[in-house]
Amino acid sequence: MPWAVADQGIDATPACHGRDRHHRTIVDETRATAGRYPHPESKPVYGLVNRAIEDLVCSRFGADAWQAICRRAGIERPSFVGMQPYDDAITYSLVAAAAAELQTEDAAVLETFGEHWMTYTVEEGYGDLLSMMGETLEQFLDNLDAMHGRIQAQMPALRPPHLRREPLPDGDSILHYHSDRPGLAPMVVGLLRGLARRFDVEVETSRLPPVGTGHERFLLRVRRR
Ligand code: HEM
Repeated sequence: MPWAVADQGIDATPACHGRDRHHRTIVDETRATAGRYPHPESKPVYGLVNRAIEDLVCSRFGADAWQAICRRAGIERPSFVGMQPYDDAITYSLVAAAAAELQTEDAAVLETFGEHWMTYTVEEGYGDLLSMMGETLEQFLDNLDAMHGRIQAQMPALRPPHLRREPLPDGDSILHYHSDRPGLAPMVVGLLRGLARRFDVEVETSRLPPVGTGHERFLLRVRRR
């Protein structure tokens, strides 16, 4: 089954486990597996991200696929709590395992994940926050740092990227993306696709050559429908 297909029923009901089942013992076991993925500069990432990966896999490929991905990633009893930070090595392992299991590239998983994030966060209660961040895609992009800042109030260990839109004279924009996490630029491409859908516009995104370590740029051409 193809992975990076935008219209495969993103918001289907998750097949894996109830969203509200938070069990401390299992969480601790999930955390314990983090040590299996030594990562020289590992940083915390909130469980909400891992849960979103689970939701994406389960809604499109079913619970068996999710179990296989977790096994491949070395996570025996997966149960992530949204508001709890985990080692980001777990997230990277899940992405790599999903790509291997579903016979695609890590970049395709990240792109599809980025798109899914825009609907998943609404389902998880962030819809009002998203709605406050602008009436156009451009306004929204201008407020991304402020938005992550608001989220940081609830998630103190959050290490969000820094995103800045540079308007160009012809109406296009360059989106600057600064992150201390390597390899996540394809997620931004997917996020932009999800945002285009949210704002009912067409966005042509081209990844420009990186400026330096941790600084990526995307040329954006927005067309109103
Ligand atoms: C209300 C919606 C959103 C929530 C709740 C949210 C929250 C988060 C969380 C929890 C992380 C993981 C980082 C960590 O735990 O330290 C993250 C990472 C990230 N977010 Fe957001 N976010 C939202 C919307 C967006 C949007 C609209 C964008 C658009 C570009 C975006 C761009 C990113 C990127 C690129 C990362 C990857 C981390 C990195 O590059 O260093 N997020 N966000």
